[in-house]
Amino acid sequence: MYIVLEGIDGAGKSTQISALKGWLEDSGLEVETIVEPTDSDIGVLIRKILQNPNATDENIQKILGLLFAADRLLLVDKIAKEEYCNKIIISDRSFYSSLAYQNHPEWIAEINKFAKKPDIVLLLDLDVDLAIERCSGEDEFEKKSFLIDVKNSYLDLAKDDKDRFKIINANNGPKKVQSDIKKAIAPFLGICLSGID
Ligand code: TYD
Repeated sequence: MYIVLEGIDGAGKSTQISALKGWLEDSGLEVETIVEPTDSDIGVLIRKILQNPNATDENIQKILGLLFAADRLLLVDKIAKEEYCNKIIISDRSFYSSLAYQNHPEWIAEINKFAKKPDIVLLLDLDVDLAIERCSGEDEFEKKSFLIDVKNSYLDLAKDDKDRFKIINANNGPKKVQSDIKKAIAPFLGICLSGID
């Protein structure tokens, strides 16, 4: 089972991933987590480029699209290794991030065709104003309009793939988000829901 958390910057993915991992392990399941971009040389280069103030420019986004696809190919080998077999993998982002952030869906789909497709995508849907407040506090027009596009792309992806995508309202506090995530995935894993508010 390959579960992915997606959402715009500041949506609270890492907090929710550690809560989800703890809950699944308490339920007797074995869990491994992964993060995109990875800590590979390609991932390090990606993070460097992301710090560039012009990172939202169209051409830089295309370069990032290629690098993210390459970084993801490294994950294909990693996931195939024994330590990941028969475990639940929870990933912070996936190729759906490339679809939402980098645009050009056909090209992104083509260069990511060897990437593993998630079984469940938990989309943490956060208001852009709140995201900007959480991330930088600076209400830059460029960043805001970029994140609005990303948010809308995610919602379109979710609309087109209702079986795979579960939309979680991330504007609520972390506890409520956590219980909504549990409710969304419990049926897939056959976990009893007792004790969830
Ligand atoms: P990160 O610092 O991990 O941000 P967050 O904690 O919000 O996920 O950086 C990841 C950034 O990379 C984030 O802005 C989304 C972007 N990204 C893409 O643009 N395309 C991708 O395919 C992936 C995986 C991430």
